[in-house]
Amino acid sequence: MLPIKIRHVTEHDLDDCYAIESVCYTSDAATREKIQKRIQVFPEGFLVAESNGHIMGMINSGSTNKEDITDEAFKDMVGHVRDGKNIVIFSLAVLPEFQGSGVSKKLMSKFIGASKDMKKEKILLICKADFISYYQKYGFLYGGKSKSTHGGFEWHEMYLSLNVD
Ligand SMILES: CC(C)(COP(=O)(O)OP(=O)(O)OC[C@H]1O[C@@H](n2cnc3c(N)ncnc32)[C@H](O)[C@@H]1OP(=O)(O)O)[C@@H](O)C(=O)NCCC(=O)NCCS
Repeated sequence: MLPIKIRHVTEHDLDDCYAIESVCYTSDAATREKIQKRIQVFPEGFLVAESNGHIMGMINSGSTNKEDITDEAFKDMVGHVRDGKNIVIFSLAVLPEFQGSGVSKKLMSKFIGASKDMKKEKILLICKADFISYYQKYGFLYGGKSKSTHGGFEWHEMYLSLNVD
Protein backbone atom coordinates (compact mmCIF):
# COMPACT_ATOMS: atom_id res chain seq x y z
CA MET A 1 0.00 0.00 0.00
CA LEU A 2 1.37 3.42 -1.01
CA PRO A 3 1.92 6.03 1.69
CA ILE A 4 -0.93 8.49 1.20
CA LYS A 5 -0.98 12.00 2.55
CA ILE A 6 -4.23 13.95 2.64
CA ARG A 7 -3.64 17.70 2.58
CA HIS A 8 -5.32 20.94 1.60
CA VAL A 9 -5.06 21.97 -2.01
CA THR A 10 -2.72 24.71 -3.24
CA GLU A 11 -2.85 26.70 -6.47
CA HIS A 12 -0.03 24.49 -7.82
CA ASP A 13 -2.39 21.49 -7.82
CA LEU A 14 -4.75 22.97 -10.42
CA ASP A 15 -3.53 20.99 -13.45
CA ASP A 16 -3.48 17.68 -11.56
CA CYS A 17 -6.93 18.28 -10.10
CA TYR A 18 -8.39 19.24 -13.45
CA ALA A 19 -6.85 16.11 -15.01
CA ILE A 20 -8.51 13.96 -12.33
CA GLU A 21 -11.86 15.70 -12.83
CA SER A 22 -11.65 15.18 -16.61
CA VAL A 23 -10.78 11.51 -16.45
CA CYS A 24 -13.30 10.64 -13.71
CA TYR A 25 -16.36 12.50 -15.01
CA THR A 26 -17.94 12.93 -18.43
CA SER A 27 -20.58 15.54 -19.33
CA ASP A 28 -20.85 16.35 -15.63
CA ALA A 29 -17.15 17.28 -15.28
CA ALA A 30 -16.28 20.73 -13.98
CA THR A 31 -14.27 23.01 -16.23
CA ARG A 32 -10.69 24.02 -15.41
CA GLU A 33 -12.03 27.46 -14.49
CA LYS A 34 -14.49 25.96 -12.00
CA ILE A 35 -11.76 23.88 -10.35
CA GLN A 36 -9.55 26.96 -10.19
CA LYS A 37 -12.33 28.98 -8.59
CA ARG A 38 -12.89 26.28 -5.96
CA ILE A 39 -9.16 26.26 -5.16
CA GLN A 40 -9.00 30.04 -4.92
CA VAL A 41 -12.23 30.67 -3.04
CA PHE A 42 -12.45 27.74 -0.62
CA PRO A 43 -9.15 25.85 -0.19
CA GLU A 44 -10.32 24.89 3.34
CA GLY A 45 -12.93 22.64 1.71
CA PHE A 46 -10.65 21.19 -0.96
CA LEU A 47 -8.43 18.22 -0.09
CA VAL A 48 -6.06 16.20 -2.23
CA ALA A 49 -4.56 12.74 -1.74
CA GLU A 50 -0.87 12.71 -2.52
CA SER A 51 1.64 9.91 -2.77
CA ASN A 52 5.31 10.36 -3.64
CA GLY A 53 4.54 13.85 -4.94
CA HIS A 54 1.70 12.67 -7.19
CA ILE A 55 -1.93 13.71 -6.73
CA MET A 56 -4.13 10.60 -6.86
CA GLY A 57 -7.49 11.97 -5.83
CA MET A 58 -9.40 14.97 -4.58
CA ILE A 59 -12.54 16.17 -2.89
CA ASN A 60 -13.85 19.71 -3.26
CA SER A 61 -16.76 21.69 -1.95
CA GLY A 62 -18.58 24.95 -1.35
CA SER A 63 -20.47 26.23 1.65
CA THR A 64 -23.98 27.65 1.94
CA ASN A 65 -26.82 28.35 4.33
CA LYS A 66 -29.25 26.93 1.77
CA GLU A 67 -30.63 23.40 1.68
CA ASP A 68 -31.30 23.46 -2.07
CA ILE A 69 -27.97 22.78 -3.74
CA THR A 70 -29.17 22.32 -7.32
CA ASP A 71 -28.25 25.82 -8.46
CA GLU A 72 -25.69 25.36 -11.28
CA ALA A 73 -23.97 28.66 -10.50
CA PHE A 74 -23.08 27.37 -7.02
CA LYS A 75 -20.70 24.85 -8.65
CA ASP A 76 -18.89 27.98 -9.85
CA MET A 77 -18.86 29.25 -6.24
CA VAL A 78 -21.56 31.86 -6.91
CA GLY A 79 -23.47 32.08 -3.63
CA HIS A 80 -20.67 30.38 -1.67
CA VAL A 81 -20.72 31.58 1.96
CA ARG A 82 -17.52 30.61 3.76
CA ASP A 83 -19.23 30.38 7.13
CA GLY A 84 -22.44 28.82 5.79
CA LYS A 85 -23.96 26.08 7.95
CA ASN A 86 -23.84 23.44 5.21
CA ILE A 87 -20.89 22.16 3.21
CA VAL A 88 -21.60 20.76 -0.23
CA ILE A 89 -19.38 18.21 -1.97
CA PHE A 90 -18.96 18.90 -5.68
CA SER A 91 -16.33 16.34 -6.77
CA LEU A 92 -14.92 13.24 -5.14
CA ALA A 93 -12.62 11.52 -7.57
CA VAL A 94 -9.66 9.16 -7.61
CA LEU A 95 -7.53 8.40 -10.67
CA PRO A 96 -8.66 5.05 -12.14
CA GLU A 97 -5.25 3.41 -11.58
CA PHE A 98 -5.52 4.11 -7.84
CA GLN A 99 -9.18 3.23 -7.36
CA GLY A 100 -10.05 0.36 -5.05
CA SER A 101 -7.17 0.95 -2.64
CA GLY A 102 -8.87 3.09 -0.02
CA VAL A 103 -7.90 6.53 -1.33
CA SER A 104 -11.45 7.94 -1.36
CA LYS A 105 -12.02 6.52 2.11
CA LYS A 106 -9.09 8.54 3.42
CA LEU A 107 -10.30 11.67 1.59
CA MET A 108 -13.85 11.30 2.90
CA SER A 109 -12.77 10.62 6.48
CA LYS A 110 -10.53 13.68 6.50
CA PHE A 111 -13.22 15.78 4.81
CA ILE A 112 -15.81 14.79 7.41
CA GLY A 113 -13.35 15.69 10.19
CA ALA A 114 -12.49 19.02 8.54
CA SER A 115 -16.20 19.82 8.15
CA LYS A 116 -16.74 19.16 11.86
CA ASP A 117 -13.76 21.37 12.69
CA MET A 118 -15.37 24.13 10.60
CA LYS A 119 -18.55 23.64 12.68
CA LYS A 120 -20.66 22.74 9.67
CA GLU A 121 -24.09 21.30 10.51
CA LYS A 122 -24.48 19.08 7.47
CA ILE A 123 -22.61 17.73 4.50
CA LEU A 124 -24.80 17.73 1.41
CA LEU A 125 -24.28 16.28 -2.05
CA ILE A 126 -26.04 14.89 -5.06
CA CYS A 127 -24.92 11.63 -6.63
CA LYS A 128 -25.93 9.12 -9.26
CA ALA A 129 -28.00 6.11 -8.14
CA ASP A 130 -24.94 3.81 -8.25
CA PHE A 131 -23.27 5.82 -5.48
CA ILE A 132 -26.08 5.93 -2.92
CA SER A 133 -24.69 2.86 -1.16
CA TYR A 134 -21.16 4.31 -1.30
CA TYR A 135 -22.19 7.37 0.71
CA GLN A 136 -24.34 5.31 3.06
CA LYS A 137 -21.12 3.61 4.20
CA TYR A 138 -20.13 6.96 5.77
CA GLY A 139 -23.51 7.43 7.43
CA PHE A 140 -25.12 9.62 4.79
CA LEU A 141 -28.90 9.40 4.57
CA TYR A 142 -30.97 9.40 1.42
CA GLY A 143 -32.77 12.69 0.80
CA GLY A 144 -34.77 11.75 -2.30
CA LYS A 145 -34.46 12.33 -6.00
CA SER A 146 -32.91 15.68 -6.89
CA LYS A 147 -34.44 18.08 -9.36
CA SER A 148 -30.96 18.60 -10.83
CA THR A 149 -30.32 17.39 -14.37
CA HIS A 150 -26.64 18.37 -14.26
CA GLY A 151 -24.72 16.88 -17.22
CA GLY A 152 -27.95 15.26 -18.46
CA PHE A 153 -28.02 12.69 -15.61
CA GLU A 154 -30.50 11.79 -12.87
CA TRP A 155 -29.26 12.75 -9.37
CA HIS A 156 -30.08 11.79 -5.80
CA GLU A 157 -29.69 13.88 -2.66
CA MET A 158 -27.60 12.57 0.24
CA TYR A 159 -26.87 14.29 3.55
CA LEU A 160 -24.81 13.68 6.68
CA SER A 161 -25.68 15.54 9.89
CA LEU A 162 -22.60 16.41 11.90
CA ASN A 163 -23.19 16.36 15.61
CA VAL A 164 -20.82 19.04 16.69
CA ASP A 165 -20.89 19.69 20.40
C1 LIG B 1 -16.13 6.63 -6.36
C2 LIG B 1 -14.63 6.74 -6.17
C3 LIG B 1 -14.28 8.13 -5.66
C4 LIG B 1 -14.20 5.68 -5.14
O1 LIG B 1 -12.80 5.86 -4.90
P1 LIG B 1 -11.86 4.67 -4.40
O2 LIG B 1 -10.59 5.27 -3.90
O3 LIG B 1 -11.76 3.65 -5.48
O4 LIG B 1 -12.71 4.07 -3.20
P2 LIG B 1 -12.09 3.27 -1.96
O5 LIG B 1 -11.07 2.30 -2.46
O6 LIG B 1 -11.65 4.25 -0.94
O7 LIG B 1 -13.37 2.50 -1.43
C5 LIG B 1 -14.01 2.85 -0.22
C6 LIG B 1 -15.22 1.99 -0.06
O8 LIG B 1 -16.19 2.37 -1.04
C7 LIG B 1 -16.63 1.23 -1.77
N1 LIG B 1 -16.95 1.65 -3.13
C8 LIG B 1 -16.10 2.11 -4.08
N2 LIG B 1 -16.80 2.44 -5.19
C9 LIG B 1 -18.11 2.18 -4.91
C10 LIG B 1 -19.32 2.30 -5.64
N3 LIG B 1 -19.33 2.74 -6.90
N4 LIG B 1 -20.48 1.95 -5.03
C11 LIG B 1 -20.49 1.49 -3.75
N5 LIG B 1 -19.37 1.36 -3.01
C12 LIG B 1 -18.21 1.69 -3.58
C13 LIG B 1 -15.45 0.27 -1.69
O9 LIG B 1 -15.87 -1.05 -1.91
C14 LIG B 1 -14.97 0.51 -0.28
O10 LIG B 1 -15.83 -0.17 0.62
P3 LIG B 1 -15.25 -0.94 1.93
O11 LIG B 1 -14.72 0.16 2.81
O12 LIG B 1 -16.46 -1.60 2.49
O13 LIG B 1 -14.19 -1.83 1.43
C15 LIG B 1 -13.87 6.46 -7.51
O14 LIG B 1 -14.31 5.22 -8.02
C16 LIG B 1 -14.04 7.52 -8.58
O15 LIG B 1 -13.29 8.50 -8.62
N6 LIG B 1 -15.05 7.35 -9.46
C17 LIG B 1 -15.27 8.32 -10.55
C18 LIG B 1 -15.82 9.63 -10.02
C19 LIG B 1 -17.16 9.43 -9.32
O16 LIG B 1 -18.08 8.87 -9.88
N7 LIG B 1 -17.24 9.87 -8.05
C20 LIG B 1 -18.43 9.74 -7.26
C21 LIG B 1 -18.98 11.07 -7.05
S1 LIG B 1 -20.71 11.17 -6.94
